[in-house]
Amino acid sequence: MKLEIRGVTKTFQSKNGALTALDAIDLDVQPGEFVCLLGPSGCGKSTLLNIIAGLDAPTRGQVRVEGKIVTRPGPDRVMIFQSAALFPWLSVFDNVKFGLNMIGVPKPARQVIARKYLQMVHLADFERASVHELSGGMKQRVAIARALAADPDVLLMDEPFGALDAQTRDLLHDELQTIWTETRKTIVFVTHNVREAVVLGDRVVVFSARPGRIKKIFTIDLPRPRQIESYAVVDLAREIMAELKEDVLASVHDPQVSWLQGMEAQRVGDDVL
Ligand SMILES: Nc1ncnc2c1ncn2[C@@H]1O[C@H](COP(=O)(O)OP(=O)(O)O)[C@@H](O)[C@H]1O
Ligand SMILES: [Mg+2]
Repeated sequence: MKLEIRGVTKTFQSKNGALTALDAIDLDVQPGEFVCLLGPSGCGKSTLLNIIAGLDAPTRGQVRVEGKIVTRPGPDRVMIFQSAALFPWLSVFDNVKFGLNMIGVPKPARQVIARKYLQMVHLADFERASVHELSGGMKQRVAIARALAADPDVLLMDEPFGALDAQTRDLLHDELQTIWTETRKTIVFVTHNVREAVVLGDRVVVFSARPGRIKKIFTIDLPRPRQIESYAVVDLAREIMAELKEDVLASVHDPQVSWLQGMEAQRVGDDVL
């Protein structure tokens, strides 16, 4: 098993007292599997990803990567966030090379590896560009190339396409499906977009509203590549949405979930309804 998540509970201390973000999460992820975590805002998706990444510690329970308990971040797990978190003063090429330097890859190999992954995300012609010249979608591609260049076993993606327009997002769905088919990385992908989860995932893990619990796991057997507008995807998304609806409403009315998060949660509903 690539990832074993066992009884992971996370409680935060806030000014309103203790807040349970995750409650006894159990989940196994197979090597090479693409798993989507889907749920309303505030249900603990980012918290779980941070715990898998080793950026945060569970209050109870544990995460194992290939049998080894996670206690800190490591090169075997790389996180990709909604905002690409690139170095604005470095070129596209140097952004991708940066991480390779950190993990001790020799200089000539760094060039070759960086080129390979920039090609994979269709940015070969932009390697000398600076980050501020890029569109949002291109920045996310650089972030994906940088993550892949470090050759992690597990990619952790936290709503990576959440800030992009629909056309760009669809394009990146296509690219990510191709990349995953070519590299067979294990991917844990967080989203609150039901269709996105169905397009990408081998399995879609549906979370309940806070405190986050696993409500249901859907296996997505549709052939790839999948298109977000296809009947099969839309039908399945509708079925999953039915499962999610009451939790979206609960999260909109949860006083501990901020107004902005509530609006975001409502968008989950808008996606399919
Ligand atoms: N560092 C923190 N301190 C206190 N509360 C937090 C912290 N991080 C997250 N939370 C709370 O935990 C809950 C889950 O948050 P999060 O994992 O970001 O949800 P999601 O990513 O599903 O929207 C929310 O109610 C959030 O406000
Ligand atoms: Mg989040």
